[in-house]
Amino acid sequence: MKTTFKLNGKTVQVETQSDATLLWTLRDHLGLTGTKYGCGKALCGACTVHLDGMAVRSCTTPMSMVTNRSVTTIEGLSKDNSHPLQIAWVEEQVPQCGYCQSGQIMQAAALLQNNSRPTREQILAQMNGIICRCGTYTRIVRAIERTAQNL
Ligand code: FES
Ligand code: FES
Repeated sequence: MKTTFKLNGKTVQVETQSDATLLWTLRDHLGLTGTKYGCGKALCGACTVHLDGMAVRSCTTPMSMVTNRSVTTIEGLSKDNSHPLQIAWVEEQVPQCGYCQSGQIMQAAALLQNNSRPTREQILAQMNGIICRCGTYTRIVRAIERTAQNL
């Protein structure tokens, strides 16, 4: 199956199996390994990317849903790690092992695109379900609040 879509601002075409998901197409066909595999069942959030600006779990997003749409991955969030969230993430020293962090940042970026001044309750609600086994949740919230203050 051939699928044409926009990836991080550029039009791409890939040939995959008909049951391919966006996660494995990004990682195996397009070489973008910043998006991680955790559970494969839309339960952990490690694979979160944006589809037309909305946060989605790429592990359960079939390629048939992606045709002619726009996908943004962690690699496309900024050219040089200069997205305000990436800067705040460094300033708050959020990551530990790092495995979940691209999913965390993509989920947070979708939140701030729709609501640049979220309350703490809104942040907690939006980030609920993106699992961090290292327990960096407190610093994630601080980094999002720092970003919102600077926007
Ligand atoms: S790998 Fe997609 S939600 Fe866990
Ligand atoms: S930083 Fe290790 S799982 Fe989140």
